[in-house]
Amino acid sequence: MTQRWQDGSAGDIDYAAAGQRYAEFRQEEPFIAEQIRKALGDAKSVINIGAGAGSYEPTDIDVTAIEPSATMRAQRPAHRVAAIDAIAENLPFADDSFDAAMATFTVHQWHDLAKGIAEMKRVTRGSIVIMASDPAHLHDFWITEYLPEALDREMSRFPAIDLLLDLLGPSARVETLLVPLLCKDGFTTAYYGRPEMFLNPAVTGAMSSWTLLDEEIRERGRQKLARDLADGTWDARYGHLRSQPFYDGSMRLIVRP
Ligand SMILES: C[S@@+](CC[C@H](N)C(=O)[O-])C[C@H]1O[C@@H](n2cnc3c(N)ncnc32)[C@H](O)[C@@H]1O
Repeated sequence: MTQRWQDGSAGDIDYAAAGQRYAEFRQEEPFIAEQIRKALGDAKSVINIGAGAGSYEPTDIDVTAIEPSATMRAQRPAHRVAAIDAIAENLPFADDSFDAAMATFTVHQWHDLAKGIAEMKRVTRGSIVIMASDPAHLHDFWITEYLPEALDREMSRFPAIDLLLDLLGPSARVETLLVPLLCKDGFTTAYYGRPEMFLNPAVTGAMSSWTLLDEEIRERGRQKLARDLADGTWDARYGHLRSQPFYDGSMRLIVRP
């Protein structure tokens, strides 16, 4: 049976402790939302699993949202549907209940990935869209020079893309997700051109891999980055990113049409 934290959180993060300000820093990024919407095709209904505060839920389709953490459910804005308290591994719906299913930034937290994906497939007639990081590309990002531990942590959590493809079946494909310079959704690479953001503990507090590290390790990374920003080392190497419109990193959509 999936173990749940006191507020109902069902993955490896206790959102009562680490997610109080999630919606403040993790807003929907419109450029990414457009790609997700396109991948959902002509569905008239969609189930959003691990729905959190509702980012990326289409506004022109009937949405059912599933979210186990009360802390996250409480951060859903008024224009989103209320989320149902349930977990990916045991969806309280009959077979083929929805045209489509989506899961954004969540599969790496599930206790039983295979069961969660099997449940997604069971309740869905058509498209399934998963947004996740490709663990093989996490260390391509410059933050690895400052806090490799955060990316190591991510690598041990994110499933290999091939595994997701296998679980979704032979028609599944991978799409690269480009990240825009002023990305509104504060995941790690969202700040590729705004390095100062990593110096704000509230910003990194909304990135689950950072919250899983000891404060001493986080502080060491922040201090090294602060030094490199102050003496120009960071800008000499990466300053071009400050005006680069998009970043091609580890973000992927895995889509079963
Ligand atoms: C990083 S948040 C992403 C929220 C939202 N999908 C988004 O894109 O902003 C991960 C979410 O997955 C949820 N989650 C973790 N384990 C889960 C599980 N086993 N079943 C369903 N949701 C789960 C968490 O409670 C959390 O709200």
